[in-house]
Amino acid sequence: MQRVLLIGDGARENAFASALSYLRLYALSSFINPGIKKIVDSSGGKYYIGDINSQEFVKKVKDDVNPDFAIIGPEDPLFHGISDVFYQEGIPVIGASSKNSMIEKSKTWMRQLMWKYGIPGRLRFKAFSSIEDAAKFIMEYGGSVAVKPSEQVGGKGVKVVADLQAYLSQEKRLALSKSVDKIGELVSDKVKVIVEERVDGPEYTQHVLTDGQSYLPLPLAQDYKHAYQDGIGPETGGMGSISGPSSLLPFITEEEYEDTFDIVRQTAKAVERETGEKYKGFISGQMMLTDLWGPTVIEYYSRMGDPETSAIIPRIKNFGEVLIRAAEGHLNKVKPEVVETSSVVWVVSPLGYPLDRTIARGKRIFVDVKKIEDFGCQVFFGSTSLEGGQIITQGSRALELVALGDYNEAVKKLERCVSFVGSETRLIYRTDIGKSIDDMIEKAEIIRYSYKKRKSKGTLGISADWSPNGGMW
Ligand code: GLY
Repeated sequence: MQRVLLIGDGARENAFASALSYLRLYALSSFINPGIKKIVDSSGGKYYIGDINSQEFVKKVKDDVNPDFAIIGPEDPLFHGISDVFYQEGIPVIGASSKNSMIEKSKTWMRQLMWKYGIPGRLRFKAFSSIEDAAKFIMEYGGSVAVKPSEQVGGKGVKVVADLQAYLSQEKRLALSKSVDKIGELVSDKVKVIVEERVDGPEYTQHVLTDGQSYLPLPLAQDYKHAYQDGIGPETGGMGSISGPSSLLPFITEEEYEDTFDIVRQTAKAVERETGEKYKGFISGQMMLTDLWGPTVIEYYSRMGDPETSAIIPRIKNFGEVLIRAAEGHLNKVKPEVVETSSVVWVVSPLGYPLDRTIARGKRIFVDVKKIEDFGCQVFFGSTSLEGGQIITQGSRALELVALGDYNEAVKKLERCVSFVGSETRLIYRTDIGKSIDDMIEKAEIIRYSYKKRKSKGTLGISADWSPNGGMW
């Protein structure tokens, strides 16, 4: 039986584990994820606890396990060169090399790359090493912009400046300076801010798996980023997701899917040319359908998104085999068996997430997995640790419930299943996820109309602020 070492501790990794449960599974996490632990135990593997970002520690675990291949879920170990540990020793691994993970780590690097290689779906931007200069620029520019830390900080710190009239008032200027200061705090001593032109439209994620030769686009998913019902509240890592039917979403056409796949593939090839290293693993475009370009890149992940993964993996019957083939370098030998049926994911978080993780940490939660499965859902554990037989929250998203079916049917299942999750603290989840699909279709139609007009006139990507200066205003 093949031995696989899985690195990471969230719901995404629990979903990977479920797809690989027929192999001997070894796991390395910073705490004991109850869902992964169950699979490790039943497969006859072993669970290791430690620093998943330490090359030294991972080397020790690797030597102990002697895996046939490894899979790395989160971005941080990629940024810390954990996949390089395996590449250096010729052990197959699914995970971008540290150099290639720059596509996620630095938004400035990513935007520069897209302009350098003329990849469609690129936004104009300006990068600043000083907060003051960024604030000065956006005050003088006066248009709608999105302000982001250049370095990946888990989706935090994005600030959209859209209300131009009010923005020009003194008070708004002050508020804006403060928001920029706050972003500066997130990136601490390496303050670098990126200011991008603002676009609007439905968002979706296109995950592509590559072994360095072939590129496999997975079914699209949509992530719901805001903490509270109907998309209000602070941004989170994602409070739920949807996928399907088939490889599309109801508001994305086959042509847009193909265009998006082409953008992501072109980007992976451009990364390879820049770094001189084959891109192996996942590269995922966090996209928006805009009138400027149609499919437009908001950011890239060098991994699968979470909670998008929980919506996708249960829809691919042979995902374990897909991963094995990718690791072996024979991705072209497998065809993913995607079920037509859609899926909906609801994330359950403890009160306090995402704004005050100290409140969200250390709380017991109670999950009746059998009942959840009896009512047609699956559960993937996230930021929870198994301690003395209890499931204890670790301060972030605790678990993800998945249901398959058409969107109405999946939502109905989730409404039942979520009642089998309890806690000594209040639990936060969004019951709107999987609903209002028609509104998204309508919004996409409006955008698609002007995007098609631009396409026919040959004006894709051109805006009133156009400057031929390499994407910089
Ligand atoms: N769903 C957002 C992320 O994976 O970063």
